[in-house]
Formats: sequence, C-alpha cells, structure tokens
Amino acid sequence: MSAKDGEGEAEAEQVVNPWEVSAKDGGKIDYDKLIDKFGCQRLEKSLIDRVHRLTSRPPHVFLRRGVFFAHRDFNEILDAYERGDKFYLYTGRGPSSEALHLGHLVPFMFTKYLQDAFKVPLVIQLTDDEKCMWKNLSVEESKRLARENAKDIIACGFDVSKTFIFSDFNYVGGYVLLICIFPPPKLASILILSTFYENMVRIDKCVTYNKVVGIFGFTGEDHIGKISFPAVQAAPSFPSSFPHLFSGKNDLRCMIPCAIDQDPYFRMTRDVAPRLGYHKPALIESSFFPALQGETGKMSASDPNSAIYVTDSGKDIKNKVNKYAFSGGQDSVEKHRKYGANLEVDIPIKYLGFFLEDDAELEHIRREYGAGRMLTGEVKKRLIEVLTELVERHRRARAAVTDEMVDAFMAVRPLPNMFS
Ligand code: TYM
Repeated sequence: MSAKDGEGEAEAEQVVNPWEVSAKDGGKIDYDKLIDKFGCQRLEKSLIDRVHRLTSRPPHVFLRRGVFFAHRDFNEILDAYERGDKFYLYTGRGPSSEALHLGHLVPFMFTKYLQDAFKVPLVIQLTDDEKCMWKNLSVEESKRLARENAKDIIACGFDVSKTFIFSDFNYVGGYVLLICIFPPPKLASILILSTFYENMVRIDKCVTYNKVVGIFGFTGEDHIGKISFPAVQAAPSFPSSFPHLFSGKNDLRCMIPCAIDQDPYFRMTRDVAPRLGYHKPALIESSFFPALQGETGKMSASDPNSAIYVTDSGKDIKNKVNKYAFSGGQDSVEKHRKYGANLEVDIPIKYLGFFLEDDAELEHIRREYGAGRMLTGEVKKRLIEVLTELVERHRRARAAVTDEMVDAFMAVRPLPNMFS
C-alpha cells in the first residue's frame, strides 16, 4: 500500500484520502460507507434545525441540500454555544495551483456563513509546505501560490477583524514579538514565540510511525517530510498555536469545516487532543463537488477538463458544460420525452444542487427534467447562467483584493473584537 492508496486500498474499493478520491469501478462515491468506515456521524436534520434556532438565520443552502452531510461532535459545539461558550473555526488550503476550482470554494463559502452566523474567529492555514513536498514545487513557488490563493480566499468575503490567514512557511517557525520596555529606540526586547512548533513536537511525540502508516498509508519510499507533515495540519486545532489570538484560552473549542477527504488528518488530531489537555476538534464535512465527467471522483485541479476554475471565462464555462458535463438525459428526444432523465447520474442537476439558491426553482427543474418535459440542453443553459454569475461575482471580488489587504489578513496581530 502506498501513500496514494491510503485507507481505501485494503478493501480494494473506493479510495478517499487527502491525495486521491475515486469511486469503486467507475461508480459513485458511497458516502454512507465512508461514514461507517471513518466513524463520523451523519448530519441529521435535527442538528440543522438547531443551527437555525441558535443563529436565527436560515440554514445555508449547503446544509439544506445535504452537501455538508457528516460531522464529528458538531452537537458539542452547539451545546457549548448554547451555554454561551465560544469556539473558533479552522480551515485551510494547499496551494498547489494558481487558480481555485469551484470545489475549493465550497468549504470557504460555507465557512464564511459559519463565521457570520456564529460571530466567531477563524484561522486559515495555507499549507505551502505540504504542496512543496507533495507536488515537488520549489519553496519560493509554493509561497507565491499561497499568496495568490489567499486573494481568492479573501474574495469569499471574510471579515478581516475576525480572520487570521497564515502560510506555514511564514508562521510555523514562530514570530517575533517586539516588547518596548522604554519608548523606542531606547530599549527593546525581542521575544520569539513558536508555540505552533512546540505543539507540533507535542503532537509528533504522541503518534507512532505505525499509526501514521495506518492512517495515511505512507511507505518506506516516502520521504520523512511527508511523515512529519500531519502534525503541521493538526496543530491549528489547538488554541495555544495562536498566542496572539487565544492566549490563556486553552479551553477554547475548535471546529473545522472541510470536505471529507481531510478527515484522516483530524482523526489523528482527535486521538491526540485529550492527551495534550485539549478538546478534540469538531468537524463538519462535505461531499465532493464532482468532476464534470461524473461522480466517480472530486473535481481535480490537475485535469483542466474535469474542473471549472474561478478564472474561467463565460465562454470557457459554456464550452466545458456543453462538452463535458455528464448528462442523465436519454440519447434521443423521443426517448427522453418518454422516459425522462436519470437525475441520479446527471451532473448539471448535481451542480445546480450546489449553486442554484432557489429551492422552488431547483425542485421545478428536477421534476420537469426527470419527467422528460425539460431537455438536457435547457438544464445546461440554466447551469451555465448560474455558474457564470458565480464566477463573475468571484472575479470582481478578487480584483478588488489588494496586496495590502493580503498583508492585513496575514499580519500576526490580536483580533480584539473577534467574538462580537
Ligand atoms: P485542498 O487545497 O486540497 O482543498 C481545500 C479545501 O477544499 C476542499 N475540497 C473540496 N470540497 C468540495 N469539493 C471538492 N471537489 C473539493 N476539493 C477540495 C478540501 O477538503 C479542503 O477543505 N491539506 C489541505 C489544506 C488544509 C486544510 C486544513 C483543509 C490545511 N489545514 C484544515 C481543511 C481544513 C489541502 O490540501 O486542501
């Protein structure tokens, strides 16, 4: 078994890990099986209703439609919130490419909603070190991509007064705190804080080589950077990794929105947390925004024809949807009118389920298309409109993100009003 095969290989079935997502025999990802295998919980309607009640906001479309479908201890986060206890959000991105695809936007759009609804701080990790090691990028190129990706993330609308974005290369080794004992330039003392790194070492000491091989499938051929990386992704789950934000708040809970491919990192983290005196991080996990070709895997940044990017033009979107989006419609109009579309395999319907906000319109399209009264071309046309509007809105927001704004989000600083 190699690091790429991960946990799925043992059953020779579907493979879902941070590096590979593929269904069994070209079928669909079986999310129920994944819940059983990973040992997470299904996100029940009662929890979604509770979010509605506690935040007095309508649940996000990704909650209503079951895009976020699994969790770990989300109920405990809500219990704590109801008691008046606070928590923080943690999510991230591995900057492996210049442009994000629409699948990458899913957790960030959802995290923005969570931040607004619960009024909580957020830390966003850019794992430029991870991509440097896995994608064989140079350190400099990984750092450049991290800053480029930060612009796309900021364009999702995060609140700079509640959000800290950091790149591993810049932050993990510690940061300098300048303490002025007398007004400068008379006497200043320099203190290097590296609690993030201290936590990584604490985590490393709790995880055996056998354990990390069991979770991630590393082999003797993998370099040691890969073996030590999981602690880097685990450390932000503990509040003491951010002393400028959460000093003295070691009891603060952490919640992580992500797609379910990241679960292995946090199974390991949750195992370690109580031994280090922290709460286990809670998770809320989504299914994958699928490739244009079908639900056998996730949209992949390395296959341009499988994905719609936030940089695609209206023309690109139209071409990709018309040419590649797998259709559940019948192969002749006559048959289609008679039998209707197979919505289970239809990618345009799946995509509309993510990004068409209007529940009534989606229901109408599903009914008409499923009964054969609507044709594939009409559904694709509506999808092209929805995606073009989304990508255009993102492009405008990204164009407004300046280098100064990136610096502001990435500055190591206290966030005085982060809980209000
Ligand atoms: P990365 O860059 O592969 O993905 C960034 C985020 O997007 C999610 N994602 C998707 N969601 C829906 N549909 C898809 N097709 C799709 N593809 C990717 C990922 O689950 C992730 O949430 N190692 C991480 C970076 C990271 C991180 C974290 C992610 C560091 N700390 C904490 C989540 C939470 C990575 O390479 O993500």
